[in-house]
Amino acid sequence: MNIILIGPPGAGKGTQAKRMIDRLGVPQISTGDMFRAAVKEGTPMGLKAKECMDKGALVPDEIVIGVVKERFQKPDAKKGFVLDGFPRTIEQAKALDALLTGMGTKLDHVVVIEVPDDFLVERLTGRRTCKTCGYMHHVKFDAPKTEGVCDKCSGDLYLRDDDKEATIRDRLTTYHGQTSPLIEYYGKAGIVRKVDGTKSMEDVQGAIKKAIGA
Ligand code: AP5
Ligand code: MG
Repeated sequence: MNIILIGPPGAGKGTQAKRMIDRLGVPQISTGDMFRAAVKEGTPMGLKAKECMDKGALVPDEIVIGVVKERFQKPDAKKGFVLDGFPRTIEQAKALDALLTGMGTKLDHVVVIEVPDDFLVERLTGRRTCKTCGYMHHVKFDAPKTEGVCDKCSGDLYLRDDDKEATIRDRLTTYHGQTSPLIEYYGKAGIVRKVDGTKSMEDVQGAIKKAIGA
């Protein structure tokens, strides 16, 4: 099954992707995670990405499309995917359409996780991500048993560089300007499934399961 998750920063794309990939037997492909890994490695692409991420802006389309093209070459992507954070512009969506046509496949569902902006600053300033396994805790909504330590793998938890209030506001502006038009783009294809992302993590997963029938 080929699925895209769309939603503003903090909507729960990563949280929900991690809860569905085992059930669906497909990988989570997160361009944000791929860029953070490149930043950590200090590659030239990582340096360019960091410049954009720190400003709450998008990484240029040609870089993102190249990274996704390469990721699709890996054998696990042949089984399908949950795309988390890609596409984010109409240009990226068109490139994805072409890529999938070339692979002889197509999108099944575009799940839009709807959360009003008011919720998102609290979600993101309270997020604590694991350095080792990438699990996202939250100081209030999914607090680790021991402060600063991941429940899943005992790794260290950290606050992402772009989870500062000023950068969060810029990311929200970027989302509303450049990414939300995708909802209409995919709406025309009749594959958009909207879910209420303000509910509990379990309820959101339940709504996604119902919406995609799997
Ligand atoms: P990316 O990493 O994709 O960040 P984002 O889209 O801003 O989204 P987040 O990861 O911040 O939020 P999320 O929706 O995954 O929420 P989460 O599940 O963690 O991108 C980062 C940057 O990389 C971009 O700004 C851009 O610069 C660049 N980039 C990436 N892809 C790109 C692309 N395609 N093109 C160009 N540039 C690109 O949840 C958040 C918190 O809330 C967690 O703590 C979680 O525990 C909690 N939570 C989740 N769900 C609930 C719930 N239902 N109730 C209560 N708490 C909840
Ligand atoms: Mg995420």
